Amino acid sequence: MVPTSMNSVDQQISNMVAEINIDEWSGSYWEQGEFLALERLMPKSLIEDFMGEVAVVRPKINRNFIPKHKKGGSVSYYLLQESAPAILAFYQHQGWIDLLSRIAGVPLLLCPDEDPHACALYFYTEPGDHIGYHYDTSYYKGARYTVLIGLRDQSSSQLLCRLHTKEIDQEVQELSLATEPGTFIFFNGDKLHHAVSPLGEGEERIVLTLQYVTDPAMSFAHRWFSNMKDAVGYFGWSALFRKPTR
Ligand SMILES: [Fe+2]
Repeated sequence: MVPTSMNSVDQQISNMVAEINIDEWSGSYWEQGEFLALERLMPKSLIEDFMGEVAVVRPKINRNFIPKHKKGGSVSYYLLQESAPAILAFYQHQGWIDLLSRIAGVPLLLCPDEDPHACALYFYTEPGDHIGYHYDTSYYKGARYTVLIGLRDQSSSQLLCRLHTKEIDQEVQELSLATEPGTFIFFNGDKLHHAVSPLGEGEERIVLTLQYVTDPAMSFAHRWFSNMKDAVGYFGWSALFRKPTR
């Protein structure tokens, strides 16, 4: 039986989806080269529910450091499956996935259970935490789409975005965004060149990421490369040998 609080989470997500003007969102997404950002989209009460679960998993943050590229902390999909039912319900909410699919113009699917990035938390908690410019490259046979939800932002860090980098007839557009609680960002991972600027002293920034794909199949070689990258850059070696619980 689903607990009452989970019904409430599900209802809040359904209500939010029902109020969205899909044509407006979709137009903006395509004009910006498959990128969309909206401030404070998520209801405050939902962010509070998510932050309650952030507090539970916080002692299990895996810190990582790749010189000149990234420094920060992460909590993987495996840990969220064990301890974060509201965040998981959001990731898997069919109305939410249908909405994203309509914006992207392709049917989106959940990532496989063995992908630690599928639904994860990124913690910027120590001075200098950042990530350099990159694409969220798809190692899947299909395209990969990223959702970022701001959960906490008491920082001067900015999400730095370079739009239209893959379009030869378009000028590159640069954006610098704060990811305040409730902010929603959605993009095609192979299209958006992005980075996070370094965290200052005494600051903190926490972001939830959701990943969706058009085809969850992956070749053996790509799975191996993706696993190595996740172990070094995000979730640690233990995540490689950890079976998802679902
Ligand atoms: Fe990224």
